[in-house]
Amino acid sequence: MKKLWGGRFDGKNEDWIDAFGASIFFDQSLAKQDILGSLAHVKMLVHTKILSEEEGQQIIDGLKIIQQKVANDELDYTVQNEDIHLNIESFLHEEIGPVAGKLHTARSRNDQVATDMHLYLKEKVQDILEKIHELRLVLVTKAEENIETIMPGYTHLQHAQPISFAHHLLAYYQMLTRDQERLTENLKRIDCSPLGAAALAGTTFPIDREFTAKELGFNAVYTNSLDAVSDRDFILEFLSNSSILMMHLSRFCEEIILWCSHEFQFVQLSDTFSTGSSIMPQKKNPDMAELIRGKTGRVYGDLFGLLTVMKGLPLAYNKDFQEDKEGMFDTVETVEKSLTIMSGMIASMKVNQQHMLESTEKDFSNATELADYLANKGIPFREAHEIVGKLVFSCIQKGIYLQDISLEEYQEIVPAIETDLYDKLSSYTAVKNRDSLGGTGFAQIKKQIDQAKQQL
Ligand code: ARG
Repeated sequence: MKKLWGGRFDGKNEDWIDAFGASIFFDQSLAKQDILGSLAHVKMLVHTKILSEEEGQQIIDGLKIIQQKVANDELDYTVQNEDIHLNIESFLHEEIGPVAGKLHTARSRNDQVATDMHLYLKEKVQDILEKIHELRLVLVTKAEENIETIMPGYTHLQHAQPISFAHHLLAYYQMLTRDQERLTENLKRIDCSPLGAAALAGTTFPIDREFTAKELGFNAVYTNSLDAVSDRDFILEFLSNSSILMMHLSRFCEEIILWCSHEFQFVQLSDTFSTGSSIMPQKKNPDMAELIRGKTGRVYGDLFGLLTVMKGLPLAYNKDFQEDKEGMFDTVETVEKSLTIMSGMIASMKVNQQHMLESTEKDFSNATELADYLANKGIPFREAHEIVGKLVFSCIQKGIYLQDISLEEYQEIVPAIETDLYDKLSSYTAVKNRDSLGGTGFAQIKKQIDQAKQQL
């Protein structure tokens, strides 16, 4: 089969070598973008009188037929045509004959592929942003239902201080808000047209890059033609933002997995998001959460794969760039699906409020409350800390908790202690009173929720 670039070649092609060099196996998912790019390009060629109206119209008609065939999944791509760009150009030849050869005037596959990737990622990042928004909504709704749900707050995975479950959910809301901001920022740089950079140096034809950018809905054009075809930082930024996003989802999943365990029993996932075991009849496994945690690894892999591909490449285009695609496709799919699963899983998750509360009552997570109480009575905090530490030590030996110590015993240690202490030691009050800005106190949480609702 004769190659579209075959003029300079004499030797014969080997199929297995063609297959190694081909990207059609995976870049066929850029067919839609490739045709849109070509349509914009040919309109510009007519607009600038590089091609005649008739030539332009023939090419446009041909591209539209192919566009329809792409939509109906009717095309048979060939490895000999290497990639999506050459495949489509070859289909165009079949449709309209030699005038098809004029489409590639003032264009190179280098600016063509970069354009396709920008178009593709722009659309996908917008989809992902919507999905993050949806998950943030789910989190705020769940938080609103759980303002007064008390759970243990942890440091080092040890009970630290009781918090509101809403506070925990809203922490993830904030992380996801930043993820959304990062991707929105990323979008500015994706929304830029490389088309017209040609191979690397621009072109002698009087093209109009602003025209194609506008046709394609890009907000800007790359200033430097060499930069336009040489960098993939817009993808790296996406992969890096996605890695951070997946890290957040993964940590949340790790917690959900723990909370579903027999030891915690804080939440129950709906059956839709759980699976059973083929041998142990009692099992209900949080597979979806585990998979999101697992898939985070492949997104990191996609980031490091492309960073490594790029690190030693001289300007401008190198065939190595062809390796930019699969990781990007993979991350787009992984992130989209993970976000959808996450929203459904959290929306349908049952919260075991009673159990959460109880687990804050048989522990010493109110020790800070006692120390603060003593500090309020004028005892220096360090001294109060020491007193409470000793009390905790003796409680552990007796098998009781701070709230079980009698008022008389307390007064022997600090005469200023009064009965109001016991209310302060309750988890509910401990949470309610943490009213400092951004704290877990109910009033603060309501403020966070109001603020979130305004943002959403
Ligand atoms: N399939 C190629 C890629 O994905 C398209 C660009 C080819 N350009 C070239 N000069 N060989 O990068």
